Amino acid sequence: MRPVFSKRVRQLATVNIITERCQSLRAAGVLLLDLTRTNPTEAGLFNDNAWLASLATEGGARYQPAPFGLLSARTAVAQMYAAKGLAVDPRQVALCGSTSEAYTWIFKLLSDTGEQILVPRPSYPLLEHLATLADVRLAHYMIDYDGAYFIDTDSVRRSVTPQTKALVLISPNNPTGSFTRLSELATMASLGVPLISDEVFSDYCLLPSPPELASALVAESSLVFALGGLSKSFAWPQLKLAWIVVGGDKELREQALARLELIADSFLSPNTPVQVALPRLIDFGAQRHAKVKQRLLQNAATLTRLTKHSPVDSWEVQGGWSAVLRLPLTVTEDWALILLEQQRVLVQPGWFYDFTDDRIVVVSLLTKEDEFSEGIERLVHRASS
Ligand SMILES: Cc1ncc(COP(=O)(O)O)c(C=O)c1O
Repeated sequence: MRPVFSKRVRQLATVNIITERCQSLRAAGVLLLDLTRTNPTEAGLFNDNAWLASLATEGGARYQPAPFGLLSARTAVAQMYAAKGLAVDPRQVALCGSTSEAYTWIFKLLSDTGEQILVPRPSYPLLEHLATLADVRLAHYMIDYDGAYFIDTDSVRRSVTPQTKALVLISPNNPTGSFTRLSELATMASLGVPLISDEVFSDYCLLPSPPELASALVAESSLVFALGGLSKSFAWPQLKLAWIVVGGDKELREQALARLELIADSFLSPNTPVQVALPRLIDFGAQRHAKVKQRLLQNAATLTRLTKHSPVDSWEVQGGWSAVLRLPLTVTEDWALILLEQQRVLVQPGWFYDFTDDRIVVVSLLTKEDEFSEGIERLVHRASS
């Protein structure tokens, strides 16, 4: 029979065992402590009336198609970089609907079918799907932990082949929260492969001092694509506005922008009301960011306090919205399943992010504080028994 659907969507999304179990417990009326929620609009943190009103502008009522978005909005993004000490020309900024879309555009810009993109492992699973949809293959380099996070730069060098079209850095990474160090960036940049630097969580440094690296745009690299967006920086995933800043060698950068414009022009993704309101939204966004950061810091402190002197190894929280915990080797089953069934606590299993150590679980630092501490107490109690 003639195949109806493409191979890209052959593998339908499957429900994993944790989700399945969770669904049946909830259906049976069991209350769960959910430590996996990362939707900031459900975090109980914000008053939405003020910023919602700022979207109602006259400019937002007119359609003004522009491949990379309105210059006023691109300028507002460039100013955010200027505030971090990074000089960005608004013409280097391309707006799009989300960073997921940004990845797809850049994969299409750089790669032909079957070519390779190098990404970190562990990391968030969406990259695999984005790669499949863009007809590229992923290869992996490792992020390791030995009391501190580090990129296994040998694994990077080993994985780069003539088919490698881009190297993805995620800083801080999801879920490890690890920031890329300057020396690691220098190694990556020296490989002569364009860098895609996912910096969506970079405004959430949870260490007492700022990270060594504010953005990979400082790299002496041929081509750098720095990604950011309202979704994480200001906890506005529903506004659907993200950006790509194209940096690196000037001539190559201009060529990249001209070609990227062709792609952006085919979609014209960013919506006008949000673009028009962006300068005002950024003002409101600062308070939202502060609230999110405060919760992350408080939960990170709770985690340190509750896991100290326990068999739970809480890995250093450098940044981002998640924390990684390594539980003891005392069980034969999946820890996430045990915690769900015996403690009624929902955590993400490490394998969801491609951790190879099956003692690892991941929790969201965005969880409401009381639920977070109760959940971690139950987790520590079970791990200690
Ligand atoms: C590291 C990282 N980058 C990008 C994204 C995608 O964000 P969005 O598409 O909302 O901009 C996510 C989503 O969780 C993420 O964790």
